[in-house]
Parts: sequence; structure tokens; C-alpha cells
Amino acid sequence: MEKLTSAFYDPNRSYQDNILDGPFGEGLKDEKYITEGTPKRSFLGNLVYLDLGISAGPLVNGKAVKRALDLGWDIVTYKTVRSEQYPVNGYPNLLPTRLDQMLNSEIAERGIMVARSFSFPSSPTNSFGVPSLPPDIWVPDATDAVQYAKYGQVVVVSLQGTPKGSHEMFVQDHVDAAKYAKKTGAKILCLNQSCPNEGTSHLLCLDPLMSGRTAEAVRNEIGDKTKLLAKICYFSDQDLLKRYIKSVGPFVDGIVAINTMAARIITEELKPAFGEGREKAGISGEYIRPYGLDMTRRIAGIAADFNFNISIIGVGGIFNKFHYLAYKEAGAAGCEMATGFLASPKAILDIKSGLGISTKKVVENLSGS
Ligand SMILES: Cc1cc2nc3c(=O)[nH]c(=O)nc-3n(C[C@H](O)[C@H](O)[C@H](O)COP(=O)(O)O)c2cc1C
Repeated sequence: MEKLTSAFYDPNRSYQDNILDGPFGEGLKDEKYITEGTPKRSFLGNLVYLDLGISAGPLVNGKAVKRALDLGWDIVTYKTVRSEQYPVNGYPNLLPTRLDQMLNSEIAERGIMVARSFSFPSSPTNSFGVPSLPPDIWVPDATDAVQYAKYGQVVVVSLQGTPKGSHEMFVQDHVDAAKYAKKTGAKILCLNQSCPNEGTSHLLCLDPLMSGRTAEAVRNEIGDKTKLLAKICYFSDQDLLKRYIKSVGPFVDGIVAINTMAARIITEELKPAFGEGREKAGISGEYIRPYGLDMTRRIAGIAADFNFNISIIGVGGIFNKFHYLAYKEAGAAGCEMATGFLASPKAILDIKSGLGISTKKVVENLSGS
């Protein structure tokens, strides 16, 4: 596979290698930028220069979070962690696809063929399985990253529960993960309810009752001062989305939408590209943007109907300032990107410049991280 020369997360290396030796990327290691002027925008009550950040996933540890902060990103998410160590799916975990039109359920079922190399904008696919380091490693690591944020920057810690046999134990596991996450000092936590999880349905967010129970338990654990986001998938069913928001809305400050969208991923020989048992994986990037925008509009409408003061964080297919502006127009209080960051780790500099926010390169040849 052709290498992503600017890859921050290098898909040609194992997840463990990315944790140990990453982040990678020519020229990215020695660069540091600051944003000029004063931060005037708010992200969940935190002042930032630009309310566009990096969503959970691409930044696999504190080193990666700190490097992203150095590259001029103001809202940076530490990847989803759990209450205990959890293994990563086997290699590969991130592949390019040949998808060249908006994703739909028919294409997702029929299968999307992987491509030989990455080129952007496009829609890659990933299958990590939401791995987690043990809390005795990630809590101090994330704490260090949280403290590294400068004025006008904020680090979000993403967490999720692990199925434990009963609903009560599942709720308790959320509480345990939240307790650890709070210890990092992060001002914002993001509860991932949109990865394969336990509820009566496959994704936790598609089970409004369990989503509400877990969000309430996490809120009770972290108290009122720490902001809480819930991250959800695309909902095709408007009534289910209403029930979800009604159930979770009282306990969260915001909703992050959307996570990746599931599709069958196949090789040229029509075999599962990630291997047997991993037939489906998450599609991100260019061809899911209409779904992210649609959800932003719909959540805004429903939250208004319920009179909930919920910030919507728009995610999905953002690569440039026009995409960001489209989400803002749709009602997003802030935005985040994952694929757009992987494609261009310094995209934020262009986006800020295009929006009249200037950045300055301050340090060359930083020694180490
Ligand atoms: C490599 C990769 C890893 C991801 N890992 C996570 C994760 O651990 N937790 C999570 O909530 N979302 C995860 N996501 C989903 C993204 O945060 C985002 O919601 C999704 O990719 C859509 O945004 P995009 O089109 O900008 O990539 C991941 C996405 C990518 C591309």
C-alpha cells in the first residue's frame, strides 16, 4: 500500500507501533504553532480561537494529543478509553476504500471495496474495536495531555463502558470509566455511545433507555462542573432519535454526531478486507458528510422542541472551512474532524487563516515530545 507521507497515525504500522513510536509525519515533529490574538469563541464554556477540533480516534495517546495542540488545534480529543485494558483488533485497522459516492444502505450491504492507496478527500474505513490501555497508564498520560493545553485550547477525554454480563454491571462500568476520566482534570468528557456496545440493540445509542441510564450514572459520578458530551451514530429513524434525546438530554451538555457508518468492506476477491468475523467496519470522511449535516439539523430541531439547552458538535466529512461553515449553518455549536485531520494534520492552519484567524510558527526543532 502506498504510504501516507504526512501520516500522523500511520496505517502501515501496527496500533502498538503507533502508540510507542508515533505520532509520525514528515515535518510534523519539529513544528509548533500558536494562534495570535485572543480566543473569542466558546466550546462548552471554554474559550477557543476556533470551535473546530479533532474527534476521538486519531490521537491514540498523550504524545499525539500534545503534538496536535502544538500544530494549532484548539479542541483535541484523547481517544476513547475504558475502565480496564482492552485489546485492539488485529492489523490492519485503517484502510482506504474505493467509495466514490454518498454512502447508502444498499452500498453498505453490498460491500465497499478497499483501494490500494489513500488519496483525499475520500472515505477510509477503520476497525480498531475501541482498544484501551489500562487506567494506570492512560489516567496519568491523559492528565499530562490535559495540562499541556494552553490558553484558548481544551482537551476532551472520550470514554465508554464495556459490556459486563448484566445491565447493572454495564452501568457500573461506565461509572468506573467516568471516575478515572474525571481524575485527568479534563473539563469536557465525551461518552461514546456509538461503538458496538451493550444495550438491547447493537449500538448503545440505539437503545434510548440504556443510553439515558448510562448518561445519568456518568453525570452523577462527575458532578455538574465537568461538561458531558454524548457521541452518537446516524439515526435513520426520527422517532428513535427523539426518544434518545428525550432520555439522554437531561444529563448532557452536548451531543456529538456522527460516528462512523457501518458497511461491509471487501477485497478485490470479494473477501472480508479486515478478515473473517470483521465483515463490517466504520466508514468515515467525504461520503458521510450529508449524514452528519442532516443529524445536526434534526438534533437542533428536536432539542428545541424539548426545550433542552444542548450544544451540537457536528462531525463527519469535514476537510475544509466550507464544510465547517456548512455545519455551523446547520446549527452546530462546534465541529470536529477525524479523517480530515488524518488526511492533513495541519489543515487547521489553512482553515484558521481562511476564517481570518492568524497563526504563527514559533519553534523549530523541538527536541523530542
Ligand atoms: C481512525 C479512526 C479512529 C476512530 N476511533 C474512534 C474512537 O475511538 N471513538 C469514537 O468515538 N470515534 C472514533 N472514530 C470516529 C470519529 O471520531 C468520527 O466520529 C468519524 O470518523 C466521522 O468523522 P470524520 O468523517 O471527520 O472522520 C474514529 C475514526 C477514525 C477515522
